[in-house]
Amino acid sequence: MNPTSASTDTRMYTRITGTGGCLPQRRLSNADMVQMLAARGIETSDDWIVERTGIRHRHFADDGIHSSDLAATACRQALVAAGLAADAVDLIIVATSTPDMVFPSTACILQHKLGIAGCAAFDVQAVCAGFVYALTVADAMIRAGSARCALVVGAEVFSRILDFDDRTTCVLFGDGAGAVVLQASDTPGILATDLHADGRHAGILCVPGSVAGGRVSGSPLLTMDGPAVFKLAVGVLESAARAVLAKAGRTEADIDWLVPHQANIRIMQSTARKLKLPLDKLVSTVDEHGNTSAASVPLALDVAVRQGRIRAGDTVMLEGVGGGFTWGAVLLDF
Ligand code: UT7
Repeated sequence: MNPTSASTDTRMYTRITGTGGCLPQRRLSNADMVQMLAARGIETSDDWIVERTGIRHRHFADDGIHSSDLAATACRQALVAAGLAADAVDLIIVATSTPDMVFPSTACILQHKLGIAGCAAFDVQAVCAGFVYALTVADAMIRAGSARCALVVGAEVFSRILDFDDRTTCVLFGDGAGAVVLQASDTPGILATDLHADGRHAGILCVPGSVAGGRVSGSPLLTMDGPAVFKLAVGVLESAARAVLAKAGRTEADIDWLVPHQANIRIMQSTARKLKLPLDKLVSTVDEHGNTSAASVPLALDVAVRQGRIRAGDTVMLEGVGGGFTWGAVLLDF
């Protein structure tokens, strides 16, 4: 018996069957950021932000809008795209570093907002690599037979943890959510995944505060050594991409679309160049979204799908990198 022949292949695969996204209404241009910082006596410029990062706009959620609200909108869109009702979902995984509460998980709050109950729901914390982590976990759970239909979400309100006295970070980030429906399938779907972390670098991108004795102990605001993160990011994004290609038995030439974490256009273009991909195969939303951390990859994926650029059958490389230090890649046939 040939275990690899199609007729005897009884393995379970997973496939993305719907995508969705949500950006809060309030859209701030670089000019708005220049004005906001000037009021604090801090200088920045549209030229600096565009040249160093590629960012032109970002969205900030109004007070009272939480990660779960943005996630719920993205999930409803993804379910419509998949042609499913919410009660078909038997697993919810939310990647977020800006949860609604310390606990319960944002996934539980999201579950209730979607009007369902009973299915497994939990958060994954891997900062800007959170979505590729969450997708990898959902893929493994479905292939193990623990679930058949998952909502996998990246949702963030990073505007809540920005230090608006620190021009080196506050102009970079935005709020948003992206979601996919991942379903069991007889054919792939997800071809290979590759996750990594290196806690030695925890200090270069962190929110060091914690809740203790009824108050926040330490700073509750984001701090980043941008150049150190930049240097690590360009290396690991290339190695993770090569690792998933090798695991899947594919080559760079098989990639139709690269959807990397949307932090900095220079990092994204450098990754594309290292993989010998023409820049028109790079999906970029960083100009419009800024860095939305765990939401950035599913948001960019959703934009490219809705624009009709990513189509059924295309081979897509998703990549995340961020605080932890964490990084990873997922290669899939859409
Ligand atoms: O989401 C997780 C992953 N995150 C990332 O991948 C972010 C990675 N890092 C980066 O994208 C870049 O390092 C930054 C965009 C954060 C910074 O760009 P850079 O080219 O590495 O600039 P730099 O930090 O070396 O700063 C260059 C100069 C400095 O001035 P001096 O010391 O040369 O006089 C900064 O003070 O730019 C100055 N600067 C600014 N100037 C105007 C820093 N921020 C600003 C600003 N406006 N907002």
